[in-house]
Amino acid sequence: MIDRDQVLKSLEEVLVPGVRRSVSSLNLVRRVEVSDRSVDISLASAALNHGSQEWLRAKVQEILRKLSDVGEVNVEFTEMRPKELNEIGSVIAVMSGKGGVGKSLVSSLAAVALARAGFDVGILDADITGPSIPKMFGIAERPEGSETGLLPVLTHLGIEIMSVNLLLPHEDDAVIWRGPLIAKAITQFWEDVLWGRLDYLIVDLPPGTADAPLTVLQSLPVSGVIIVFSPQELAAMVVRKAIKMAQEAMHIPILGVVENMSYFVLPETGKKIELFGKSRAEEMANLAGAPLLAKIPIDPELAQLCDEGRVERYQADFLQGFADAIARAVKAKAS
Ligand SMILES: Nc1ncnc2c1ncn2[C@@H]1O[C@H](COP(=O)(O)OP(=O)(O)O)[C@@H](O)[C@H]1O
Ligand SMILES: [Mg+2]
Repeated sequence: MIDRDQVLKSLEEVLVPGVRRSVSSLNLVRRVEVSDRSVDISLASAALNHGSQEWLRAKVQEILRKLSDVGEVNVEFTEMRPKELNEIGSVIAVMSGKGGVGKSLVSSLAAVALARAGFDVGILDADITGPSIPKMFGIAERPEGSETGLLPVLTHLGIEIMSVNLLLPHEDDAVIWRGPLIAKAITQFWEDVLWGRLDYLIVDLPPGTADAPLTVLQSLPVSGVIIVFSPQELAAMVVRKAIKMAQEAMHIPILGVVENMSYFVLPETGKKIELFGKSRAEEMANLAGAPLLAKIPIDPELAQLCDEGRVERYQADFLQGFADAIARAVKAKAS
């Protein structure tokens, strides 16, 4: 008798070409039937071109035929859209009052911290006119795909990324689209990208608390918002506006706040200096009625790693706590 659990386990080893994730983690396995000597498998064809489908068919057959009692292996493909297959635990949007505060950096570090903690994570770069996520991770590959969808590009750590930056003919091309087209791009990043099974999808919103981020919040099923500010900003105003937009107008909870460029550590003595004045992190957390998730120092090494596309190499004490704090905040808001 063929062991169905063995079959399912073996499928977890079959990686989809172009991404280093398995057919199981991308949620492509739709049906598995075993009889005395044969296995019938049905895989969703979303975002897979013909070549990838044929390759997967051969690979699945090769791997399953090694199992005891398996004679025949039939693999068929069923047409489905990524939207029908994506299973995402929590969609977390990262918001800031203005550009340059470190919103993309916080999105990236949140994803890195969660990935290191063992979660499956993706980043949807919704800052269509100022996309900077691929650059921080040093990725420039074109996403693969078919008429039915796109596959995300994976970072070294295995974080899934989709950004308009990866789809432009040249990385430095400017995007001058207007509102409706941008909204359409965001919807497509949500519906037509095969994210598969993820614990967290981080959304790097456009800067500000006006129309652009609002459009994104309206087009995605966001579970909660993280607000980023820096001490030199009119932080109280940013936090109040974010609360108004997300919590009051759209009933999306604020998960927490992050103070970026909070302090600087003197390399010689290890002394913390609050360069931009006293930290307002606790005050802002109180205002938001949500926890302080992290205080991020001004760190020249961090700036350099971002410039070099190696943000995943960054090590700092606050990162471990950051992942725990996000996971806890999500759980608290869900219950
Ligand atoms: N805490 C920090 N330490 C050092 N450099 C930082 C820090 N936060 C942001 N930066 C730098 O500032 C620039 C802007 O950050 P970014 O995250 O792209 O801002 P935003 O997305 O809000 O426009 C980046 O080049 C980044 O390297
Ligand atoms: Mg940015």
